[in-house]
Amino acid sequence: MSIWRTKSIEQSLADADHPEFKLKRRLTAVDLTVFGIGVVIGAGIFTLTGRVAAEFAGPGVVFSFIIAALCCGLAALCYAEFASTVPVSGSAYTFSYATLGEMMAWIIGWDLILEMVLGASVVAQGWSSYLVTFLEEIGLGWPAGFGPDANAEFGQPNLAALVLVVVLIALITMGIKESLRVNLALVAVKLFIVLFVIVAGLFYVSGSNYDPFVPERAGSVSGEGIQQPLIQWAIGLEPQTFGVLGIISAASVVFFAYIGFDVVATTAEEAKNPQRDLPRGIIGSLVICTVLYVAVALVITGMVPYDQIDPEAALATAFRDVGRSGFATLISAGAVAGLTTVVMTLMIGAIRVIFAMSRDGLLPVKLAHVNKKTGTPIRITLIVGAMVAVVATFTPIGKLEEMVNIGTLTAFALVSIAVPVLRKRRPDLPRAFRVPFSPVLPIVAALICIYLTLNLSLETWLRFVVWMAIGFAIYFLYGYRSSRVGKGDDKAAESLSK
Ligand code: ALA
Repeated sequence: MSIWRTKSIEQSLADADHPEFKLKRRLTAVDLTVFGIGVVIGAGIFTLTGRVAAEFAGPGVVFSFIIAALCCGLAALCYAEFASTVPVSGSAYTFSYATLGEMMAWIIGWDLILEMVLGASVVAQGWSSYLVTFLEEIGLGWPAGFGPDANAEFGQPNLAALVLVVVLIALITMGIKESLRVNLALVAVKLFIVLFVIVAGLFYVSGSNYDPFVPERAGSVSGEGIQQPLIQWAIGLEPQTFGVLGIISAASVVFFAYIGFDVVATTAEEAKNPQRDLPRGIIGSLVICTVLYVAVALVITGMVPYDQIDPEAALATAFRDVGRSGFATLISAGAVAGLTTVVMTLMIGAIRVIFAMSRDGLLPVKLAHVNKKTGTPIRITLIVGAMVAVVATFTPIGKLEEMVNIGTLTAFALVSIAVPVLRKRRPDLPRAFRVPFSPVLPIVAALICIYLTLNLSLETWLRFVVWMAIGFAIYFLYGYRSSRVGKGDDKAAESLSK
């Protein structure tokens, strides 16, 4: 028995075919791209662009988006190679089980749960803020004390977020294709609003706002004690605001806007032709989102001098300030539609990762049972729904985006490292998509991800360490012993048929 034991690719593929755990293969390349756009475009573009331009980079935020996109692009290539080689549910978790061993796979799975469950909760709260703003703009409202509240105490219920999570979980339980149909409609609305901002905004752009395009350096990012970035605490290197270094600080923040394209890989078992379509879905959604982000960033910083951008609601305020309140209402409505799909897709991703971990026995196998009628793992769906509902409704977590970033970046780094490892161990496997210049490119991808995590606060790191400690405790007390790979294949078959 060893924590480094691996699960063969053939075994992963065979498990995915077991009738009790078989998901329906129904998704096409277009479905996957829409799925990707649905989860990527969200709170990041609707709120972060303005805040980062105002506080870190000015119009130079455009470069920050490009840097973050390059980092994600490199990781996306690695994801694409894996997804085309091991088209099994569970994304990075499954890939690393085949290469880096069981304990590393557990760590990645645990990171992904953090990314997706917490991400869904954070965005559900963001959604509730936009909903209330929208209701107020059209003359309605939401009962005070039961909605989003910047100063909320622990336990003060956010019923708006709760309603969203309950409705979405009901939809997800009904089936993946059904969920994606609703997703498609909402993504269409979201894309329309983003394109609308770009086109309508162009009429109000003033060239003088781009001068200077990269404002002069203004000093270090404030933050003391556990608020300071790890890199500053450890070696005294202070991330800067504005100037070229400000653009880099901003890149580690706008990274959040790209989070989610990796979730496409969690649906590998539901794709009709995963080898061909997963790389298309992953890379396609990333390219489309990057183009849109750069365009929105150019328009917003062109409409408003960067030091006057409203950090809370940049897009809506920019239009209100030029006398277009109607447009502002439309943008709030678009944000409500847009954030809905982010929450839904992140929950689907979390469900698929826990599904894969349970099927392997690292979490209770019974959880992974797939309902014959809906073709979905209902038990896990309800558990994830309950977790997101409790966190989004009762905790003041709006400020935990950084936790989502650290979980994701760690998973990206490990996936990137796993690409050359798998090439060396299993050169024979058919790879429909290959990362160019391996191992250089995957190593550069991992290094960039690690560098970005160093820019996150000490507080985030401490929370992350606690999360990982809980994960290790569960693994050594439960997963290590009940792992199907650990028990050997015969016993594994037995536990499957129980
Ligand atoms: N990328 C997602 C968003 O910006 C998480 O909301």
